[in-house]
Amino acid sequence: MADVVVGVQWGDEGKGKIVDRLAQDYDFVVRFQGGHNAGHTIVASDRTYALHLIPSGVLYPQCQNIIANGMVVALDALAQEIALFGDLKGRLFVSERAHLILPYHQILESDQEAKSAIGTTRKGIGPAYQDKIGRVGLRVGDLRHPHLLKEKIAQNLAHMRIKMQMRTLTDYLDTYAPQILPYVADTTSMLWEETQKGKRILLEGAQGSMLDVDFGTYPFVTSSNTISAGACSGSGLSVKDIKEVIGVAKAYCTRVGNGPFPSEEKGVIGEWLRQRGHEFGTTTQRARRCGYFDAIAVRYACRLNGCTQLALMKLDVLDGLEEILVCVGYSRGGEVLKHMPDSLQDIQPIYKSFEGWKCSAHARAFANLPKTAQIYINALEELVGVNIRAISTSPKREEMILR
Ligand code: GDP
Ligand code: IMO
Ligand code: MG
Repeated sequence: MADVVVGVQWGDEGKGKIVDRLAQDYDFVVRFQGGHNAGHTIVASDRTYALHLIPSGVLYPQCQNIIANGMVVALDALAQEIALFGDLKGRLFVSERAHLILPYHQILESDQEAKSAIGTTRKGIGPAYQDKIGRVGLRVGDLRHPHLLKEKIAQNLAHMRIKMQMRTLTDYLDTYAPQILPYVADTTSMLWEETQKGKRILLEGAQGSMLDVDFGTYPFVTSSNTISAGACSGSGLSVKDIKEVIGVAKAYCTRVGNGPFPSEEKGVIGEWLRQRGHEFGTTTQRARRCGYFDAIAVRYACRLNGCTQLALMKLDVLDGLEEILVCVGYSRGGEVLKHMPDSLQDIQPIYKSFEGWKCSAHARAFANLPKTAQIYINALEELVGVNIRAISTSPKREEMILR
């Protein structure tokens, strides 16, 4: 059986903390989409780890970690991340079907961003997925056949507007392929065999549902399916294998990069949340845009993902606010909308006000939370329609309320 963890906002919800916390009870943690655009932070025993490609189960020796077929992999980034842990052979497996991000993808992305800025992480994610869908992508398994791989790359280069020396790419592959090849495996067959043996699998989403290429705020999205459905196409497990879908949301909301964000606070409240929540990107160090919890977006995301439970993160960041707003509806041009529109451009949030509280930080029991925080959490649960089973009150692994 497999369970899935997904972000239900615009990313950076705290998926890393939840996956790390859960991983002690799983045999495998699997990343199924995205690449090193992700930045998942884990704070364990006063050490902080920022993971980009390696699944967040890596800190537990019993846990095997899979970079599955739905991901796009930059060999240099992966080699650097593996080096942080010394050696992960036998504990990390990279799908032969995952696509390669090659150095020209970053250059192509810089060109695209100069024309119309999405505000991407500039890691080459979009162009690598473009090649995959365009059927000219190169895969991790191709590393086993270096001559053929180099021929295909030369063909791709010939069709590109950018100038890049074949030599640069040959050097790149010669440096990194030998470091990554020992990790390459048929991860889908592996997962099938392990599920049959009754092993427990946790699928770790990256980004968030509002960045999903189909259902997010297109075109201001990432280039993969970030919702739970992507966990199947991105790993080879089937829908029948999936049991729990755990949605992760912050008690407020953030977004990095461009695109609509109805409940954004551009003034003092936004700055207050940014400072208190240390809302600066794990991957690009960019200041995250901050705002209030958007119950409409989270309810929509929970429906898309089929969330069976929610984890509410960073409640402590709201400590000290006198009034907390929650977006409970959208309107456009004076008209209240019934459903999530295909574009959030020009949407006005409709807010409900809640009384704030002084201190929730480090709480480990619901009963120990201030009454007004309890009211806030219960109200979010009602608005979103999914049970909030975990509440996080600090970055630390053990500081969490379970209900
Ligand atoms: P992810 O991409 O979803 O894994 O989230 P990030 O790691 O990019 O961002 C979440 C940030 O919030 C990290 O720095 C975490 O250490 C931190 N964090 C997680 N949970 C909590 C919490 O409950 N309270 C506070 N104050 N910080 C938290
Ligand atoms: P985690 O897994 C937040 C955003 C970028 C940009 C858009 C497209 O840490 O939650 P891309 O480089 O993917 O083509 O950029 O998506 N983005 C993220 N925002 N958290 C992330 O990952 C993100 N990964 C991409 O800022 O707006
Ligand atoms: Mg992140």
